[in-house]
Amino acid sequence: MFNADKFIEEETARLEREVKGKAIIGASGGVDSTVCAAIVGKALGERLLAVYVDTGFMRKGETANVDKMLRRLGVNHIVVDASDEYFTALKGVIEPETKRKIIGEKFIRVFEREAKKFGAEYLVQGTIAPDWIESGGGIRDTIKSHHNVGGLPKDLNLILVEPLRDLYKDEVRKVARALKIEVAEKQPFPGPALAIRIMGEPTRESVEIVREACAIAEEEIEKAAAAGKMKLPWQYFAVLLPVRSVGVQGDIRAYGYTIAVRAVDSVDAMTANYSKIPHDVLEQISIRITNKMKDKVNRVVYDVTNKPPSTIEWE
Ligand code: XMP
Repeated sequence: MFNADKFIEEETARLEREVKGKAIIGASGGVDSTVCAAIVGKALGERLLAVYVDTGFMRKGETANVDKMLRRLGVNHIVVDASDEYFTALKGVIEPETKRKIIGEKFIRVFEREAKKFGAEYLVQGTIAPDWIESGGGIRDTIKSHHNVGGLPKDLNLILVEPLRDLYKDEVRKVARALKIEVAEKQPFPGPALAIRIMGEPTRESVEIVREACAIAEEEIEKAAAAGKMKLPWQYFAVLLPVRSVGVQGDIRAYGYTIAVRAVDSVDAMTANYSKIPHDVLEQISIRITNKMKDKVNRVVYDVTNKPPSTIEWE
């Protein structure tokens, strides 16, 4: 039986013993990196620098929230706006694995810059067991190059520290709860963020659409779950499809984009069932999305596929 308090105590002691210099960590606001930053911060104090990179693909309000949370946890951190660099690097890129590679590499490059400034010798990463297992850790073939693993350049000059490497998601959540981190109940979010929820080129315009759609889907689903209308799904979000279909705007027919809503129930992300969301909740999501983005989105669909054969994300 996994004991979160024992894990924190032993891991903090090990980090104090083994990490002798300064360390840097990328804090995305996700459960894994936040737990990681908190534990390493406990062991190293000011010798840890958490870098939050605003890639331009984060969820609505994410940057401000993460900043606030890290401050509350007492983690030494900075926020870097690298969105211009990301949009430039992703110009014309539509292939999912290429997106992941570019995003992962840029991530590390931004780090390296900050790491040099800070004088870091160690790179802390919130990699958890399913990340490296699905990235070809020897047990399974590569399914997706999760940016934590796949984007690591060969010439990285920092020593890698991965405190959560052997933990599964439910164990990380237990550790988060023990650390009183509010993200404990937050749904998982992919490292490449909204860039892989845009089927096509990630631009400032497309990310605005999917960001708004994700925020509405999240709000409506959370509201319905809080009201006891449905169980909160394990993961729930929106995806922007590249197809445009005909709709009506007033008296005229107009082309608009399609948003796909995805919600799944799962335990460890290895398999998942689509969530049986009540139709009135789906309708509310659809109405709000198409009202909010009248001239851009005219169709909302719900994904009713399980994993397998699908994956949870669309890319
Ligand atoms: P899939 O889509 O493979 O997703 O069923 C399984 C879980 O992993 C998340 N995911 C990612 N996480 N980098 C990440 O850190 C990625 O590139 C990535 N791709 C998918 C996904 O959100 C789900 O929770």
